[in-house]
Amino acid sequence: MANFSPSFLDEVLSRTDLVEIIARHVELKKSGSNMMGLCPFHNEKSPSFSVSADKQLYYCFGCGKGGGPFQFLIEHDGYSFPEAVEYLAEKVGMEVPQDAQRQTGDEAREKKAYEMLVRASEAMSRALTAPTGSKAAEYLKQRDLPASIIRDYGIGYVPDGYGFMNKVFGSDARTNAQLEAIGLLFKGDHGYGDRFRDRLMFTIRDRRGRVVGFGGRVLGTGEPKYLNSPETNWFHKSDLLYGFSEHRDCIRKSKQLVVVEGYMDVLALATHDLKFGLAPLGTAIGERQIREIFRLCDSPVFSFDGDRAGRQAAWRALERMMPLLKAELTPRFLYLPEGEDPDSLLKTEGGQAFQSRLADESKPVLETWLLGLKNLAGQGADGRARMAKKADAMLATMTDSYLRQAWQQEVEKATGISLQQQRRHVTATPSPAANSEIAELNKIEDRFISGLMQKTERFRHLPDCAKNFFIGNDGVKSLYLRAFSIIADAKDNNTDIARQLTREFPDSQTMISRWVNQATVQDIEYESLLLDMESNDIRWHLKRGPGLSETVRLQKRMSELKSQQRKLTELLNETGA
Ligand code: UTP
Ligand code: MN
Repeated sequence: MANFSPSFLDEVLSRTDLVEIIARHVELKKSGSNMMGLCPFHNEKSPSFSVSADKQLYYCFGCGKGGGPFQFLIEHDGYSFPEAVEYLAEKVGMEVPQDAQRQTGDEAREKKAYEMLVRASEAMSRALTAPTGSKAAEYLKQRDLPASIIRDYGIGYVPDGYGFMNKVFGSDARTNAQLEAIGLLFKGDHGYGDRFRDRLMFTIRDRRGRVVGFGGRVLGTGEPKYLNSPETNWFHKSDLLYGFSEHRDCIRKSKQLVVVEGYMDVLALATHDLKFGLAPLGTAIGERQIREIFRLCDSPVFSFDGDRAGRQAAWRALERMMPLLKAELTPRFLYLPEGEDPDSLLKTEGGQAFQSRLADESKPVLETWLLGLKNLAGQGADGRARMAKKADAMLATMTDSYLRQAWQQEVEKATGISLQQQRRHVTATPSPAANSEIAELNKIEDRFISGLMQKTERFRHLPDCAKNFFIGNDGVKSLYLRAFSIIADAKDNNTDIARQLTREFPDSQTMISRWVNQATVQDIEYESLLLDMESNDIRWHLKRGPGLSETVRLQKRMSELKSQQRKLTELLNETGA
């Protein structure tokens, strides 16, 4: 892995604006000394995601994610650490140091692959507007796709016959091997050949918006109707959703998401300004994709064809979804009229009508489940028994125990049978906020450190005894002690403790981000906390039975602290804090 010097990283960070990076995805509003918005890492209705522009750290009080600019790019946008550094360095106009740029063979190959995939996509776009692409361009017109969508979603064309890829990239042995690795050439008995020929091409991107593969449709009729890139190191069908990087921000903003079956459905929705469609890549939707969907939106609509195959697909999706359901999530299922898909409906009815279908004709997941069970089980007393049995087995996969009980009652009502409850998984998913380290922090220590992190000057004015304050958590204690030496070594007054510590202790950045973004510790509260810390310290010493003179000294100091504390309390009451 690339090795960047601390001073280089510092320089990159000091020129970077975290707020700008986050504002691409989150609408931030000023709140006290920080900015607040809806967390991009989990679903929420009221903002608990805080960004400190001053300290360049973010923290979510709902899900516990926090860190600085590198961490955000890594956790939100899927960068690796070296990629995040290079990206930001480039953005702020810094040269990445030579020795850091020297990449391992793997990294260089990886980078090359992404570059080639983009170039391939661009070449396909050009081929669509070239004379050879006229047939494809005509086809797109017939399907009502406007130029803006064709451009924004990277729709292109590959001509018939072999040799298109070699014309773009050259045809030496190494290039051919690379083209094979990214799924654009196949190797047959007579050497390499283009995988895609005479097809309309759909560019497929990953979460980060990098081109990773393609779907190719025949013009008119033919088999297979769609040919996709094969699984490669970069193209994992079961992890991808078509439209994800294009629609992520819009889904968050509109709080709407609809899962459809095909590329053309996603694009038809976008054409009607409904930029919240996502589609799996021709395979049944899997658990990882559903997880991703729930992270974006808590009320997605899963749409299916109204025929038998569609109902089966819906049932499969429901089975996959059960372990991920929570009382807070309200997915819905929509069956379209037989033989129609969103693309065909939008064509005949328009966007408004489709929106109404989403709202009025979709059914809650519970209703869909009960209906599906009934259909599977059939009529009569044995039908009811089969329904109860099947329901019981499926309920066992649910992890939200409240929701499970509620659903169980519904099945019992419908069948008149009380369920056995052979529970296999009863493990509830742990809430990410229950970060054990944070949970065990003592309230006073926590606010005290928060006050110090928020205002570095306070560190400079701590009494001598502060260095020995008792702090229960070892990790916190070592951060605290390191802060003293940073202050002692600081050449000027500009050193910011929180920022410096995050750089030195990347593993603690979540905790530090939280302190920084916590409700501001005002001066009066801080003074009071400082007195509390010292009092606690004295109590601790007294318990250890120091000599007589020391005991007297400590007790005297203790009563001083108490009277100061009283004065502060009065002051606090007066200011109405
Ligand atoms: P459909 O057959 O429903 O096609 O396949 P469509 O999306 O309606 O496309 P148009 O409107 O006829 O052009 C749905 C999805 O299944 C995958 C593709 O991802 C397609 O978008 N698929 C379909 C394949 O991967 N291979 C195929 O041969 C067919
Ligand atoms: Mn279609």
